[in-house]
Amino acid sequence: MNIEEIRNHFPQLKTLVHDFPLVYLDNAATTLKPQAMINSITNYYSNEVANVHRGIHTLSEVGTKKFEETRIAVQHFINAKHSHEIIFTKGTTDSLNLLANSFGRQFFNTGDVILISTMEHHSNIVPWQMVAELVGAKVIEVTISDKGEINIEEFKNLLSIHKVKIVSISHISNTLGTINPIKELIKLTHLAGAKFCVDAAQSAAHVAIDVQDLDCDFLAFSAHKVFGPNGLGFLYGKEDLLNSMPPYQGGGAMINEVCFSKTTYNTLPNKFEAGTPAIAEVIAFKESLDFIKTIGLENIAKREHELLQYATQKIKEIEGIRIIGEAHDKSSVLSFVIDGCHPQDLGTLLDQQGIAIRTGHHCTQPLMRRMHITAAARASFSFYNTHQEIDIFIKALHKAISFLK
Ligand code: ALA
Repeated sequence: MNIEEIRNHFPQLKTLVHDFPLVYLDNAATTLKPQAMINSITNYYSNEVANVHRGIHTLSEVGTKKFEETRIAVQHFINAKHSHEIIFTKGTTDSLNLLANSFGRQFFNTGDVILISTMEHHSNIVPWQMVAELVGAKVIEVTISDKGEINIEEFKNLLSIHKVKIVSISHISNTLGTINPIKELIKLTHLAGAKFCVDAAQSAAHVAIDVQDLDCDFLAFSAHKVFGPNGLGFLYGKEDLLNSMPPYQGGGAMINEVCFSKTTYNTLPNKFEAGTPAIAEVIAFKESLDFIKTIGLENIAKREHELLQYATQKIKEIEGIRIIGEAHDKSSVLSFVIDGCHPQDLGTLLDQQGIAIRTGHHCTQPLMRRMHITAAARASFSFYNTHQEIDIFIKALHKAISFLK
């Protein structure tokens, strides 16, 4: 597919914002949706509404079959060994809360350490803090360099001096774009006898993931950042670990037998999926995955790398610019601050020209402190973006700066 054909699959790329053609550069916040995914949602609500796993009527059986097909598609997408190692959740945040609570209840003791990094999103900090407080465990950070790379020597040292139970680190930073060397971090973590969770919220749409090759114990990501619907996410966990962990939420579908004297629980994955799930969204997400497969994640990564290089080179020409995140290995995220221009003002002025970027702390306040800033502007690219859109963005940025200075 050429770029025009690719763009034709995303109806929102044809919309106007303030009478300008939309230039969507907020892909790290959420991605646009292909028509096939949208059609699937419409089809479910127009023709195929039924609950899953509960009925013997035709539509319930059709729905259940399609629902489970997505689980298999997700299994293949991240190369998990079994489809029951894929738990459907509401999103990455929900996956991490599930993990922190369930793993924490089973394994944390007083004095245990949860090791994270300075660049984590709040959703990979706060759930751990909440559980740590309950059980008397501690959340400790491994720091990062000025460029935005994890200090590996410090990581090794922290693993050797603390009783680390679990390490939870992002694959790709949503603010810096840093691609962390997670395979190496996982190896070091296992040597220290701890478990490793990969926050793949920012990586799943950009690089191929193989959980067996990585040997991670857990991995979390969201559908909406992978050209899929909102309200749906995934927690991958190794079978034996998931089996040893207690359920997170109670309700329908997660039980085997309910008695007032004792309730027993269902097997994987149902044990962790209480209540009616996001059925239309689950079914539709298979369309998003099929679309990615057609393009190929290698082609996606290559194109996004070109876009990032091009945008970085152009933006560096701006006087007073500071790029936040200059790791050697970087994904298509470009955060920056400009002397004398508040990021919020830049975002507003760009929006008036039809350009969508994100501004603020990006849910990474500890990282902002580390970089000695309170906010940044962030452009983030996807494979459907073009060099021409980057030219429009840079031109609009110049215009906004001259207005503000
Ligand atoms: N975590 C998302 C972002 O970085 C919302 O924008």
